[in-house]
Amino acid sequence: KYAHENAQFIPYNRNYEVKWKEFRISDEDKLGEGTYGIVFKGCLVESPNGTVAVKTVRSEVDKSVLLALLSELKVMIYLGQNENIVRLVGACTEFLREGRAYVLVEYCPMGSLESYLREKPYCINDITPDYVNMVNTDSGEEMLSTMDDIISRKDLVSWAIQIARGMQHLQNKKVIHGDLASRNVLLYTKDRVKITDFGLSRQLLNYENYVKKSQALLPWRWLALETLKTLAFTSKSDVWAYGITLWEIFSLGLIPYPGMVWTVDFVDYLEQNHRLSIPKYADEEIYNIMTRCWEPDPKNRPDFEQLEEMLQTLSK
Ligand code: ADE
Repeated sequence: KYAHENAQFIPYNRNYEVKWKEFRISDEDKLGEGTYGIVFKGCLVESPNGTVAVKTVRSEVDKSVLLALLSELKVMIYLGQNENIVRLVGACTEFLREGRAYVLVEYCPMGSLESYLREKPYCINDITPDYVNMVNTDSGEEMLSTMDDIISRKDLVSWAIQIARGMQHLQNKKVIHGDLASRNVLLYTKDRVKITDFGLSRQLLNYENYVKKSQALLPWRWLALETLKTLAFTSKSDVWAYGITLWEIFSLGLIPYPGMVWTVDFVDYLEQNHRLSIPKYADEEIYNIMTRCWEPDPKNRPDFEQLEEMLQTLSK
């Protein structure tokens, strides 16, 4: 069956072990923070350019969270390398008895796609807008960097294709991500995005537990109809989440279903075939791809290979 369900049985590959003394964590440099985990910026002592992101668990959390981090680690080892998936650098497991572990992944200097979309200027038609040229700079260098920041439609499509490629790798390896969203896509460079946070892919067995504890923990805006109803995750529920991620991309980082809050009525809302409307920066062609990801019957949704194909053949 799916790899994440067996994560606990995947042996840990000792080749990835990094000693505590071989890396540093900069406590002030928090890259991200979730309910259970924290990601710090860190570096490998040996290599001068060895900036890494270090994922660890909060000290106060229970053992299952630590086990979840270890499962995530094993899933990443099992996945191996892919251009569009954040690369595992190593792991420090020498403090397991004390309830601590550290997973080191490559550092993506430009942060999450979600924040990038929200912060950077967008330009339709790949034409440099006037205001960029008007930016008050003494050095041409600074102006150039400002121009590099501009997001074009070509960038949006390229990111969408790359995410589909990364997800193909997961699909082929029978790994479900479970939390695909623009917040879990990182920019390595402006031209290279990588999927991260297999935090839920390994958690799915326990998923039911935290739904009961608090609905707020559910990424309900990204969940497929059948997942909301039965908590069943498949590659096709990842496809649904991919469609929502496309919507985020082509709305430049809006929150899906703006203004809505979670109630059980949301399930009825989807059941009555309500869907996200066309985002501001998408055309009909792209919107059509998204909506196919939200077919009520998972079988009718495209897979990630078909999605890449559809995006590749978009009219320019
Ligand atoms: N935030 C979470 N993970 C990260 C990473 N690998 N690089 C940069 N920022 C991050």
